[in-house]
Formats: sequence, structure tokens, C-alpha cells
Amino acid sequence: MDRKVADLLNQQVNKEFYSAYLYLDMANYYIDLDLDGFGNWYTIQAQEERDHAMLFVQYLQNNGEKVTLEAIDKPDKVFETPLDPLVAAAEHERYVTDLIHKIYEAAYEVKDFRTMQFLDWFVKEQGEEEKNADGMVRKYQLFGSDAKSLYLLNQELAARVYSAPSLVL
Ligand code: FEO
Repeated sequence: MDRKVADLLNQQVNKEFYSAYLYLDMANYYIDLDLDGFGNWYTIQAQEERDHAMLFVQYLQNNGEKVTLEAIDKPDKVFETPLDPLVAAAEHERYVTDLIHKIYEAAYEVKDFRTMQFLDWFVKEQGEEEKNADGMVRKYQLFGSDAKSLYLLNQELAARVYSAPSLVL
């Protein structure tokens, strides 16, 4: 595998684990506020990010590449209102989309079609992640200031259940 592509894939393992850490921090923030439904949403989000990290690990290993694990940064976002994590999550997903596109670009330059095909799932997934994250911001903006609506929104988010990624390597 091309060095640059392999390095970027390796870095993405770390970025996905960092995403899991960030979402776990958000889940903890909401659980401390007794907004357990929001907590559930981000606990599942963290699980999905661990799945993403493991897909990159597995893809590297399937292609005979060594996986190098680096230290995971501490989540350093400060949340002052329940809207803050939602906005931070939407920004973070756009950042991750950009990272995925950069790996795709590197793979495209060296005609690494296998990596491009692997990344196709992530390109689509990022579209969904951004849509969901933006949807959360909009819902909170619409209903968050009213206690009764917030209660119902929290209940709706409590119903989210984890499902394994549809990509199987
Ligand atoms: Fe791994 Fe939320 O993208």
C-alpha cells in the first residue's frame, strides 16, 4: 500500500477513537443533567465510533499493514448549555467528513481502487452522520426551551438502539 494512504488510514484509527471519546464525554454531560435519553444517544454514538475505528484497523490488517496506535487526546470541549454538545457534534462530523475525503483523495491519486471502495461506505456514512447531527441541533432549537417538549425529545432519544455497522470486511 502507498505510504501516504497507509499513514492516513492509521491516523484515522486514532481520529475515530477520539470521536468515541468525545461522544462518551457528551453522554456523560447529559447523564449528569439527568437527560438520560440524550445520554443514551451519545453512548450509542460512541459505540459506533469504536466500530469505525475497528473497521480501519481490520482494513489495514487485511492488507498486511501494521497498525500503530497513538495516544488518544483528552476531550477538551466545554459545555455550558445542553445545546453546546449538539453543535459541537455537528462541527465534529464535518471535520471527520473532511478527513475521510482527504484519505480518498490520496487513494485516488495513486489509483488505490480497493481503498477507494472501502472508503465509499464512510463517505455515505458521513452524509448520514452530518444529517443526524444537524437534525439534533434543529430539534433542540425547536423544542429545547419548553420543558414538556424537552421531556418528550429526551424520551425519543432514549429509544435509540445500537446496531452494528452495515459494512463487513
Ligand atoms: Fe466515525 Fe461519526 O464518524
